[in-house]
Amino acid sequence: MTKPLQYDLIILGATGFVGGIVCRYLLSHWETATGENWAIAGRSQAKLDHLVQSLGPQAAHLTTFVVDVEDEAAVITLCSQTKVVVSTVGPYALYGETLVRVCATTGTDYCDLTGEVQWVQQMIQKYEAIAQQSGARIVHCCGFDSIPSDLGVYYLQRQSQRRWGEPCIRVKMRVKTVQGGISGGTIASGINLIQEAIADPATRQALRNPYILCFKPNNESDHPPTLIPVQNDSFFDEWITPFVMAGINTPIVLRSNALQNGAYGESFQYDEGILTGPGIAGWLGAQGMKWTLDLMALALAIAPSRWLLTQVLPQPGEGPTEAEQQQGFYDLRFWGQTASGHSLMVKVTGDQDPGYGSTAKILAQAALCLAKDKPQSSLQGGFWTPASSFGQDLIQRLVDHAGLTFTEENCFK
Ligand SMILES: NC(=O)c1ccc[n+]([C@@H]2O[C@H](COP(=O)([O-])OP(=O)(O)OC[C@H]3O[C@@H](n4cnc5c(N)ncnc54)[C@H](OP(=O)(O)O)[C@@H]3O)[C@@H](O)[C@H]2O)c1
Repeated sequence: MTKPLQYDLIILGATGFVGGIVCRYLLSHWETATGENWAIAGRSQAKLDHLVQSLGPQAAHLTTFVVDVEDEAAVITLCSQTKVVVSTVGPYALYGETLVRVCATTGTDYCDLTGEVQWVQQMIQKYEAIAQQSGARIVHCCGFDSIPSDLGVYYLQRQSQRRWGEPCIRVKMRVKTVQGGISGGTIASGINLIQEAIADPATRQALRNPYILCFKPNNESDHPPTLIPVQNDSFFDEWITPFVMAGINTPIVLRSNALQNGAYGESFQYDEGILTGPGIAGWLGAQGMKWTLDLMALALAIAPSRWLLTQVLPQPGEGPTEAEQQQGFYDLRFWGQTASGHSLMVKVTGDQDPGYGSTAKILAQAALCLAKDKPQSSLQGGFWTPASSFGQDLIQRLVDHAGLTFTEENCFK
């Protein structure tokens, strides 16, 4: 379908917490970026005007669009003007479907920040055939969930192929260090996910299945669970505790393998955990973090404690301060082993806090990669993952412009 595309990107949800950081990043990146043409959208003109004002004089050129995502006609008009819609409107399971349907139908490319795996599964089931027909490239999970994990595995597999000529059929991602906060929008998405899981046994079942986003049936009992139990990791020689983001990252990494025709191996296995150190202190740390996670999930599942918690936690639109974002960082380690027993380690780091400062830069670069580096001839319509659609092009962008590093560590066998 031919359309007069005025913009490379439109940021929908610009007036939200992450949306604002994405805009600030794109403006600061503007001087070095060549020919990027973007606009912002939200449901309130007053809030859009306030955002433009707060962004300073260099934002004066930005066009604003008032769009409520429930208004399908307005969403269609928005999509008719841009190559890529970048959505930071969440919780996605509550507000995201109309936009995905319109993008899939009109052939408009789309990136978002969802970590809601049950919703991603529903969108793939409902709209993948339509996107394949229209040419729309839909890429969910373009933030800290799940790009460092997905591209970390992609990078490790390239190093493994280069070094050993075979993929790593077993990969473990371990969070070595991380510092960051949480926003009201993320809390709202987590609460909605827990409520959906309580209400619907099929959702609970889906959340336990690491292959939930794969199109071929796989035997999930042969794969480690997405939330692995507290255990001693013999390779790292440290205790590990479940990493909550594994609930979305593991299904995305497994889908990336499926979309690349099993390039990581038919029996590829992947899990994630947080390193808490060796010995008794490491065990206590791992158990303490697990109990805290279980307690938080329980408190958010029960109405009175949920109400109490939402009074003290950040509200939608709120999140870590700019200083907290700047002080944040993360360091992820990926250990992989090939079928013939070779192993290697890869390190992925990011400056700024993972969920906001870093996520905003990652999302913006993913959207630019889709708009600038991926003509239809190199990537057809469909529901892609970050690794299967962007691969090395995005790794390069993230290293050059978003404060990430991807390096091979010196520990081969
Ligand atoms: N993947 C990751 O690593 C990652 C990291 C951070 C956040 N996230 C996710 O990103 C999402 C946004 O987070 P956030 O902290 O920025 O949330 P937020 O501050 O609450 O922002 C949500 C945005 O959605 C807009 N919105 C809500 N309903 C709308 C409607 N009907 N039509 C148009 N716009 C509507 C809000 O508009 P108003 O401004 O008018 O209220 C606001 O701009 C959440 O789902 C969160 O879980 C993911």
